[in-house]
Amino acid sequence: MSEQGSNGPAFTVHLGGSGGHIKGWVVVDSLVDGLAMGGTRMTAGVTKEEVAGLARDMTEKFTLAGLRIGGAKAGIVAEGGDRGETFRTFGRTVKPLLHGGIHLGIDMGVTPADRAVFFDEAGYDPRYRLGAPDMPIDWRTYYEPLIDCTGHGVGVAALTALEASGRSGPARIVIQGFGAVGRAVARFLEDRGHVVVGIADVQGTISADRLPVADLVAITDEFGRIDHARLPQHVTVNREPDAWLDLDADLLVLAAQKYALNAENAHRLRARMVIEGANIASSDEAREKVAAAGVTLVPGVIANIGGAGSAALAVTRVVPFELSHEARKQWVFDWVADRVRTNTRDLLEIAASRAGDPLPELLATRRAELHR
Ligand SMILES: NC(=O)c1ccc[n+]([C@@H]2O[C@H](COP(=O)([O-])OP(=O)(O)OC[C@H]3O[C@@H](n4cnc5c(N)ncnc54)[C@H](O)[C@@H]3O)[C@@H](O)[C@H]2O)c1
Repeated sequence: MSEQGSNGPAFTVHLGGSGGHIKGWVVVDSLVDGLAMGGTRMTAGVTKEEVAGLARDMTEKFTLAGLRIGGAKAGIVAEGGDRGETFRTFGRTVKPLLHGGIHLGIDMGVTPADRAVFFDEAGYDPRYRLGAPDMPIDWRTYYEPLIDCTGHGVGVAALTALEASGRSGPARIVIQGFGAVGRAVARFLEDRGHVVVGIADVQGTISADRLPVADLVAITDEFGRIDHARLPQHVTVNREPDAWLDLDADLLVLAAQKYALNAENAHRLRARMVIEGANIASSDEAREKVAAAGVTLVPGVIANIGGAGSAALAVTRVVPFELSHEARKQWVFDWVADRVRTNTRDLLEIAASRAGDPLPELLATRRAELHR
């Protein structure tokens, strides 16, 4: 049963720290069968409202994917203290939540090593939960091989939108953000015959008639920063902010920061299709503007389900753990691709049938299916 309140989250916990100081929040937007999950983000500017918005996004992702788990999110205000101490304090503080069915993973500013610290301090191991079958493998063995899963799903959303538009032949693709998600999408779409004409990272936008994706991946660090000293000769570099918007392309993938597409820059968009790989990658005003201009936009709650969905498949014990390592990975990738394809198709069908944002109607349909 869903216990999501229509007016606000199921509950919000203000974190002051236990045996140490931290400032932050855990927002549980909804509970399904007593379960909820979401990532933990640590940034200097994180607010309770931001965490609540992200927790709502998690509810929507799981509802759309047909997973029986609610949405949550944690946010810690980065205050520059000792990192190990911060995550030990966080672990002690959220211990009752972790053991009570609120699984908290990682998000912006929090690494797998930080997660290991707070799981340890809380004595929490997602393999075991009262009343649920034990997971036969540990969390890292399950989850870490799935790093490209989000990019895979975002790529499937792009292919589905291209197909639905009726176009054939290679599409010209721009990718904003060349981190874990952006790199995986670039490889996925290039492998399927599309042409990547622009890639942006935090330093600027590089473009060419055809960018060599594998060569660029090879000169990019783990934070998604491309080494500009080693760029191929034929590429153009533009350091002007948001220059990725000005490129002549069929489809733009947003895989960097929140509100990358916003009220101030949306008029520059040239692509006719936008796929959100990042969370809340476009502001509400930007979405309205691009919709009015006839642009197709697939929101992150549909396209970027891979990371959260694959974690939720394990927490809810839906994944067939008995499969071999490779077969299990393929099963998860196929599951994500299937959900993303169906949701993208259904969203675009609703959008074609009437005016206005199609997402609320799709969410209502999926909510009814989930709780039938
Ligand atoms: N990794 C996942 O599985 C996952 C799942 C869902 C959502 N997300 C979200 O998607 C986004 C990308 O995730 P990631 O894991 O690839 O992150 P990442 O940190 O690995 O990479 C971020 C990329 O964005 C670039 N970037 C940052 N600011 C930019 C700007 N102003 N203009 C252009 N480029 C900019 C960075 O240089 C880098 O290339 C994040 O917002 C993340 O929260 C990630």
